[in-house]
Amino acid sequence: SVAGPGFINFTIKPAYLEAQLNGIQTDSRLGIPLAKDPKRVVVDFSSPNIAKEMHVGHLRSTIIGDCIARILEFQGEDVLRLNHVGDWGTQFGMLISYLREVCPEALTTANALDLGDLVTFYKKAKQRFDQDEAFQETARQEVVKLQAGAEESRRAWQLLCEQSRREFQVIYNCLDVDLTERGESFYNPLLPAVVEDLEKTGLLVEDAGAKCVFLEGFTNKDGQPLPLIVQKSDGGYNYATTDLAALRYRIQQDHAERIIYVTDAGQANHFAGVLQVARKAGCIPDNVEIDHVPFGLVLGEDGKRLKTRSGETVRLKDLLDEAIARARTDLESRLKEENRQESEEFIANVAKVIGISAVKYADLSQNRNSNYIFSYDKMLALQGNTAPYLLYAYVRIRGISRKGDINFENLGEDCKVILQQETELVLAKHLLNMSEIIASVEQDLLPNRLCQYLYELSQKFNQFYEQCQVLKAEEPVRTSRLMLCDLTAQTLKLGLSLLGIQVLDRM
Ligand code: ARG
Repeated sequence: SVAGPGFINFTIKPAYLEAQLNGIQTDSRLGIPLAKDPKRVVVDFSSPNIAKEMHVGHLRSTIIGDCIARILEFQGEDVLRLNHVGDWGTQFGMLISYLREVCPEALTTANALDLGDLVTFYKKAKQRFDQDEAFQETARQEVVKLQAGAEESRRAWQLLCEQSRREFQVIYNCLDVDLTERGESFYNPLLPAVVEDLEKTGLLVEDAGAKCVFLEGFTNKDGQPLPLIVQKSDGGYNYATTDLAALRYRIQQDHAERIIYVTDAGQANHFAGVLQVARKAGCIPDNVEIDHVPFGLVLGEDGKRLKTRSGETVRLKDLLDEAIARARTDLESRLKEENRQESEEFIANVAKVIGISAVKYADLSQNRNSNYIFSYDKMLALQGNTAPYLLYAYVRIRGISRKGDINFENLGEDCKVILQQETELVLAKHLLNMSEIIASVEQDLLPNRLCQYLYELSQKFNQFYEQCQVLKAEEPVRTSRLMLCDLTAQTLKLGLSLLGIQVLDRM
């Protein structure tokens, strides 16, 4: 029908929707097609720095990057999940020199320190470095020794990396995130060639002893073009040089056709600069797509950068533990109210799933470009656009399906979805939208779209369930409605799994 100038309304026949739903009922992909032409995709995410604490920025990168990787993998893309850890550079000279003075056993014995100590030592080493010129010189020589491969320095560096790695792994296990570590040090041998090749292209300029490429469209406050420095006057290389080497390696050796970098928005200029230089130098073939996926800050409830009460940066492990502890308190009081007895195992598992999902979902459900306010109370609420709300919808539907006692895998020919009520049609249309949503997230890399979709799905399901009887309905409507319940549960489960969120059968 014509609905005013410029609009035509289409009405979908219920029979079409019914046929589509019947078709996906027993398909584990719920009718979502695989990519026709799977690509090799590198997702560079998480990427904390050795000897430093992982902070909330790394948490965002880890959660968003993992979600993007999961969606691409589900689509059948060939994904390489790379952890570009900061494991190289001048900070190690400083740290090793300092430890040699105050805690030499840390440089020779495994497990002599835990990461907390390491971070404290790092801070002290930095202080010392900033104040003491003789120490600066010692630290510089230490870097030279390390880069030249001196055995004692290498061993010390390895121990420090292992220490941090163990600590990072605790967070990855807790979040159920899989990553392949390939840190900055990996590209170290490839850095001289980056500079040589840039020299050959004629792009390289020497400016006050440093080798750099002047960027187009990036100027300082006096309107002078900004340089991307690839080699400092002392011969050392920069973060950008390593990224140029990594880019070349990923294209040439990993055969990446798409590269996705997940970092805070503060690094947007860094990546824009690196990509501009790489493009001009001809390092990026036309078929390779490169995305920087920026994200905003995590703020405290006071609207400022998230800090602990004493003003320190928040340790991620503490943040996750706190979410789990609060989920546990909520759960225990709910159990008490409902007069339920549950085992310790049940309580611990539910609290963990809810706590971790709440943190992940609070992050993913915001448009990643904006800052968001971290609030345990909001993210753990059973009402609203939260993980517990979605998990609860799933639990409820599973309960109905269980009670209905139907084996959905062995439904006969005559068990079909029949759509009559408005709320059934609304739910049916929404269920069939999932593949479009997944395709859009794959394109725009905005996981909040999937969150919004799942939230609306739960709401539409609840409206349907308020309006339509399920278990008490007459056949064949009863089976049809049970099928709608089951399809909703399957869609929620799949969608949540793509967000890195595990469902619960009871909670
Ligand atoms: N280590 C960096 C940081 O903590 C993030 C690295 C991101 N990836 C990259 N290829 N530059 O900010």
